[in-house]
Amino acid sequence: MAGPRRRLAAADRRVTLSGTVRPPGDKSISHRALLVSALARGRSELTGLLSGDDVKSTARVLRQLGVEISSIRDGATVSVHASRLSHPASRLHCGNSGTTARLLLGVLAGQRFEARLTGDASLSRRPMRRVSEPLRAMGAEIREERGDSLPLTIRGGRLRALAYTSPVASAQVKSAILLAGLTGHVGVTLREPYRSRDHTERLFVHLGLDLRERDGAISFQPSAAGVPPFQLEVPGDASSAAFLVAAAALAEGGELLIENVGVNPTRTGFLVVLERMGVHVERLNLRDAGGEPVADLLVRPAGRIGGTEIAAAEVPALVDEVPILAVVASRAAGEAGGRAETVFREVGELRVKESNRLELVAANLRAVGVEAEARGNDLHVRGTTLAPRGAVETARDHRLAMAFAVLGTLPGADVRLSERKSVAISYPRFFADLKRIGSHARRRG
Ligand code: S3P
Repeated sequence: MAGPRRRLAAADRRVTLSGTVRPPGDKSISHRALLVSALARGRSELTGLLSGDDVKSTARVLRQLGVEISSIRDGATVSVHASRLSHPASRLHCGNSGTTARLLLGVLAGQRFEARLTGDASLSRRPMRRVSEPLRAMGAEIREERGDSLPLTIRGGRLRALAYTSPVASAQVKSAILLAGLTGHVGVTLREPYRSRDHTERLFVHLGLDLRERDGAISFQPSAAGVPPFQLEVPGDASSAAFLVAAAALAEGGELLIENVGVNPTRTGFLVVLERMGVHVERLNLRDAGGEPVADLLVRPAGRIGGTEIAAAEVPALVDEVPILAVVASRAAGEAGGRAETVFREVGELRVKESNRLELVAANLRAVGVEAEARGNDLHVRGTTLAPRGAVETARDHRLAMAFAVLGTLPGADVRLSERKSVAISYPRFFADLKRIGSHARRRG
């Protein structure tokens, strides 16, 4: 982080964060808005869509399937014109995006043509059977080339109804099955061990589709009418906002207003955990956008941050925020000014994200002088008051790059990231925004 880091490295400067910032569009909702509008017959219009690389991967593969999608640029209204999906001329490259690959498998399960899905090196290491097994049980034919990963070739067709209990709390698994029910015109009933993000369910209900929840089970019954074309405003991404919240909470002064943030409770587990650690975030101007709750977040520096324990049941609602919460936990102090420990229980799923986030969060914290360790599926972090200094390996994982960039804003920090380009996946303007809201006045005295 050449600019901000170099200026922040001097311990004689007071770090404040202030002003107003709008995080980019929600990545999960952007994927779903594109995929579902691609199944509607007619023209849909989407605003606030994320212009990051992952969403562009979804748009690219949908265009290969015959969907007309206008260019995805910051602030642009994106028009999606769909008729029937058609056989792609070449492989569908899903880039770095697990959501693209897994949700697309669901969409293709109900189509009577063959398609081959590939991904970049990171995506090609990620497990796919969690999705391909239930889709096979519905009747889709899926061929593996290298076991439980991409490339995969799918031939969809006549599907049967499915009642499925997922062994993992995964919104991608749940959404793939719901989309297969939609494209294959069959009913599905789902259960998961803990509630994962529910954007697909909310979008279905918003569009008038017959999705219900009872006693922890989600049931969807498609209708002959299919999906109507729609207009949707995508709220700002809570996961992107989390980096800004943490930066403001760790600052020594100032006040940051983060506007237009999706505050769906299945995504805001990090706010609950931060509150326990002593960081209070005010929610202002609560409203609804396309069936999703949205608010502006007001954050002030926390003062003392305490340690906490994050239970397994809390993890799905903050699964993408473990890296930034671990960074905040590295600043936790005990009651008498001693060091406090934070434990994240059962975060083994982090091993199969864009990188092995469980091992890399721990290793990178150690590299900058923090005691941290993955023990089994738990992550332990001990707070310190020492300025973080050292080299961080992001493994081209956007959330690792952003989490450790926030650590680099601390007074006296010298955090050197192996790369910064990966932020283009989910928050292309991250470094520009961080620089704009930060100011570093010389300490008095
Ligand atoms: C996502 C679900 C989560 C999350 C990912 C986006 C989604 O993955 O980590 O960044 O949009 O459905 P899992 O379903 O694998 O938990």
